[in-house]
Amino acid sequence: MVDMKFRFVVPFDKSIAAALAAQELSQLEYGEENSKPGSSDDQDPPAWTSINLKEYPRLTDTPLPSAEEEWRANIVDLLRERRSVRVFDENCYVPIQDLGAVLDLAARTPQENDPYHRPYPSAGARYPIEIYVIAIRIEELRSGVYHYDSHAHTLTALLEKDFTTGLPGAIGDHDVKSPSFIIVFTAIFHRSFIKYAGRGYRYALLEAGAIAQTLDLVCRGRGLAAVWLGGFPDNEVANLLDLNWELEMEAPVLLLAVGRSQVQGKNHP
Ligand SMILES: Cc1cc2nc3c(=O)[nH]c(=O)nc-3n(C[C@H](O)[C@H](O)[C@H](O)COP(=O)(O)O)c2cc1C
Repeated sequence: MVDMKFRFVVPFDKSIAAALAAQELSQLEYGEENSKPGSSDDQDPPAWTSINLKEYPRLTDTPLPSAEEEWRANIVDLLRERRSVRVFDENCYVPIQDLGAVLDLAARTPQENDPYHRPYPSAGARYPIEIYVIAIRIEELRSGVYHYDSHAHTLTALLEKDFTTGLPGAIGDHDVKSPSFIIVFTAIFHRSFIKYAGRGYRYALLEAGAIAQTLDLVCRGRGLAAVWLGGFPDNEVANLLDLNWELEMEAPVLLLAVGRSQVQGKNHP
């Protein structure tokens, strides 16, 4: 590995060494196959083609509304006006119609009878990203933690807890005030590793970014505002979601805090 110790202003620590190692060890040589050999014949092994979704058949589901057929937003305005908002209206209860529309447009599957099609790309269609919603103030939805079932377009209740008086401690960002809900993106890394080995780590994070940007823009199209949160305490968020690292290799990778901006104006819907 290249010795980059002295080029850093921040102390060169284990996390930088690990990040550089991950980058270097997952590089592809010219002409090398992107995916790792999985079988001796020409057929893709089933592990590369089967689509896995997390399901909780014993828990209660809440159906979500779909986006209205006629609803439209202007992508040029949304892109020009996008900026991070961290302080939200503490009195805003987001209609469940808006939450349903946002998830419908940005993350739902199947789309039009095609079980493999989603509104975002996925390296090798491995779909390593799962989506959770921390509901704080959503109309007709109890405050708590939910898993989004992207096939059924439902929310599965994992934890009922009143977050209306304060953010879950797991969020850990004190600049963020009064969001109405928080989307948590997790990556189930083995879904990507099984086809791409270590390079699958890059692909999972890139996919989370793609979904987050779509969700962010659709939220803004619904008159909401948002901020991405990468600096969260990993273990606390994993515990809140009841993730099992040993069993499922699932970890939170990004949070999106959403609400109505306190400041109204051109850049603040
Ligand atoms: C991957 C990623 C992680 C981020 N993490 C945080 C965060 O933990 N806390 C925060 O306040 N903003 C966070 N942000 C938002 C950036 O600070 C913000 O996008 C940047 O300052 C540019 O401002 P703008 O979004 O208003 O254009 C993050 C953005 C990205 C893309």
